[in-house]
Amino acid sequence: MSNTMKILGFAGSLRKESFNKFLLNAAAELAPSGMYIDKFDIIDIPLFNEDVEAQGIPGPVKIFREKVQSSDGLLIVTPEYNYSIPGVLKNAIDWASRAPNSPLSGKPLAIMGATMGMGGTMKAQMHLRQVCVNTNLIPMNKPEILISAAHEKFDTNGKLTDEAIREQITKMLISYKSWVERFK
Ligand SMILES: Cc1cc2nc3c(=O)[nH]c(=O)nc-3n(C[C@H](O)[C@H](O)[C@H](O)COP(=O)(O)O)c2cc1C
Repeated sequence: MSNTMKILGFAGSLRKESFNKFLLNAAAELAPSGMYIDKFDIIDIPLFNEDVEAQGIPGPVKIFREKVQSSDGLLIVTPEYNYSIPGVLKNAIDWASRAPNSPLSGKPLAIMGATMGMGGTMKAQMHLRQVCVNTNLIPMNKPEILISAAHEKFDTNGKLTDEAIREQITKMLISYKSWVERFK
């Protein structure tokens, strides 16, 4: 188990029936041998406020930062809200980005996203890549995972049923394993 690569995965949606949470579940299931995807829910992370931060880092943020720190890499699964990433996702990233010792800095990152629309979260993913610059996250460029018409790709239990997409995710995670190894 000690040689197993540990990836922290989280979705940028808080809702229970989130397609992006379902997509994260699929990735955890399809992870290649030697990779474990630890799923984290950002629901308990409060709104960032420097006054709160000055009084001490809130418990859920501490847990999140520690999980990021102890991971070998991150997997962010983002919805698209108004052509960008949801505020809750940006908020979690903002908390993790704070000095001293931002655990994000130098962390390899894989990105995926699902939407019921047709754009596959492309615009949101581009915004997320922009955020990677100042946080010094190291996103893998390709292969990309862009899922449109998400409501047609999952069954009523939230299982990803589209075989072609399952194959794409499997291949992406194999590439990501090599990407993470480059930065060890
Ligand atoms: C405030 C808001 C803005 C949205 N903007 C977009 C958008 O710009 N592009 C898009 O493809 N879908 C957009 N959607 C639809 C979401 O992609 C869809 O609700 C998706 O299922 C959300 O992800 P989730 O299922 O993981 O919660 C928006 C939804 C909300 C609530």
